[in-house]
Amino acid sequence: MSHTLKIGLAGLGTVGISALKRLVSMQTNIAEKAGLAIDVRAISARSRTKDRGIDLSNFHWYDDPVALAKSDDIDVFVELIGGDSGSAEASVRAAIEAGKHVVTANKALIAKHGNALARRAEANGVALNFEAAVAGGIPVIKAVRESMTANSISRIYGIMNGTCNYILTRMEEEGLSFDECLKDAQRLGYAEADPTFDVEGNDTAHKLTILTSLAFGTEIDSESVTIEGITNITSADISAASELGYRVKLLGVAKKTQTGIEQRVHPTMVPKDSSIAQISGVTNAVVIDGDAIGSVTLAGPGAGGDATASAVIADIIDLARGLEVKPLGRPVEALDPFKKSEIYAHKGGYYIRLRVNDLHGVFASIATRMAEQEISLESIVQHKKRSKLKVDAELKGTGKHQDIILITYETTENRIHNAIEAIKQDGHIVDTPQVIRIARI
Ligand code: NDP
Ligand code: HSE
Repeated sequence: MSHTLKIGLAGLGTVGISALKRLVSMQTNIAEKAGLAIDVRAISARSRTKDRGIDLSNFHWYDDPVALAKSDDIDVFVELIGGDSGSAEASVRAAIEAGKHVVTANKALIAKHGNALARRAEANGVALNFEAAVAGGIPVIKAVRESMTANSISRIYGIMNGTCNYILTRMEEEGLSFDECLKDAQRLGYAEADPTFDVEGNDTAHKLTILTSLAFGTEIDSESVTIEGITNITSADISAASELGYRVKLLGVAKKTQTGIEQRVHPTMVPKDSSIAQISGVTNAVVIDGDAIGSVTLAGPGAGGDATASAVIADIIDLARGLEVKPLGRPVEALDPFKKSEIYAHKGGYYIRLRVNDLHGVFASIATRMAEQEISLESIVQHKKRSKLKVDAELKGTGKHQDIILITYETTENRIHNAIEAIKQDGHIVDTPQVIRIARI
């Protein structure tokens, strides 16, 4: 390697263009920190003519990122295209086989192909760095992979998707609709190219599986995550939760159990005074429970061009400094196969919202069905507000509806299921029941 680290950068979108601008504007400062000049030699994107707010004429242009990845003129290939297949996958594979170090922010790619890519990177003696892939600007990969190696980690969890947390925060604080908030998240560059990955929970799952591997020394297994997104969370749930002293958050949780490892992503109601409830907007927070450290929380911007570029550039600087770590913290051969825990038993209460016919006795009948399943209720609230559905029903002359909101004490998913089935059989429910787990974490 010469006294310059030569970079090829593919993808000039939200993250790519922020990274490029920062590498150029901070060139001297970065060189001083890295001990080596860092020079972007070549770039690639789909459109050569798009105005990206920066003069690109000094960089060699490639229409094909795979050709850029193999170029003799680069030492490091930076992949900021996205997606777990197509050009992103092909160019990363090509770079590794051509003996180039790789830096990527692509969690979908690492979640799906991380084991194989890490194996090839090791075989070719190159680095595969992906700090930006999890929790944007928070240095959580380095923390778990390098700074916490003296620990036996028992659990890792948190808010790992900026888009979802941004949506849930604004729905609660400003009473905006889901769609309005999602549009803003897209405009601000937080959302994935296909935002269903964010709101359906897949993006959190990708990040969680990467952290699981680093925390527990297992192969990445993206097939065994239980995933529920936030698309079914309504303004009614958010305001009811708020009235009852809770906030809704999309959490990713990975935990060691006696039978294996549990990986799950789902909306969770957390008490308003808990530390995780304070994480608002695009901010992410990851909590790591280790035997030596106790519990460590890392919080910071989880998405956005500049915050993510910060992590991308840190990975490049590590390479300039000669810091190379096995991509998954240890040789792939030394990773344990992933063993999924047999059952997931939620320990905690539940929030249940039932839209029911507004008839005499329904309230009491629901309470009875809950009691039959030995479910104790912390609170039961009748919402007398005129919901849109209620108005629609009245107009159609089909009767009156109301929301009944129940907060249970600790019980099992099975008992909740049985109680709801019985209430359905009683013919009281007019819409799909909403059930959200409550966690006191
Ligand atoms: P964008 O959609 O904003 O940018 C994608 C870029 O890739 C565009 O410049 C596009 O070109 C280019 N591209 C697409 N297909 C090709 C191709 N076949 N050949 C060459 N270039 C191509 O994505 P982001 O910047 O938001 O995300 C990039 C990566 O970073 C993704 O893996 C994402 O998951 C990850 N990430 C994103 C974060 C964020 O906050 N946005 C945070 C953390 C990670 P063109 O501009 O010409 O269309
Ligand atoms: N779409 C992702 C998010 C980008 O909103 O968290 C950061 O990984």
